[in-house]
Amino acid sequence: MDNAKETRHRITVCTNCRHVGKPCRPGLDLLTHLQAALAQAGDALSDDFSLEGSVCMAGCERPCTVAFQATAKATYLFGDIEGDADIGALVSFAQLYRDRPDGLTRESERPTMLGGKTLARIPAAIVSAERQLSLVLQ
Ligand code: FES
Repeated sequence: MDNAKETRHRITVCTNCRHVGKPCRPGLDLLTHLQAALAQAGDALSDDFSLEGSVCMAGCERPCTVAFQATAKATYLFGDIEGDADIGALVSFAQLYRDRPDGLTRESERPTMLGGKTLARIPAAIVSAERQLSLVLQ
């Protein structure tokens, strides 16, 4: 990775289940496999994302949970992510998310394997604040 280039995107996987009070094996495996899949995907995808494990992301009823975040982009939280079965869909979504200036995607654009698995889509705070300011100034 070019040291001068700052990674703007982050994928976070719940890897520390609060219910059992110890690291979550499925979450840790998902994190490892996703990292490898991003590297294999090419298109500099792995250079554009940092990956990390996290404590509970409040999607406990629908594990595994995975979040996509980036500066000035919408944040997504997905649940019901199944280990290897959903890796390809997460990589496809990463590409789509990276290539959108605001990170926003419609359900119909997302990989079908992620259908019904969006727990939250939170608009970027900066974008929202700029829109409100432009409305006030009109
Ligand atoms: S323990 Fe993983 S989302 Fe709550």
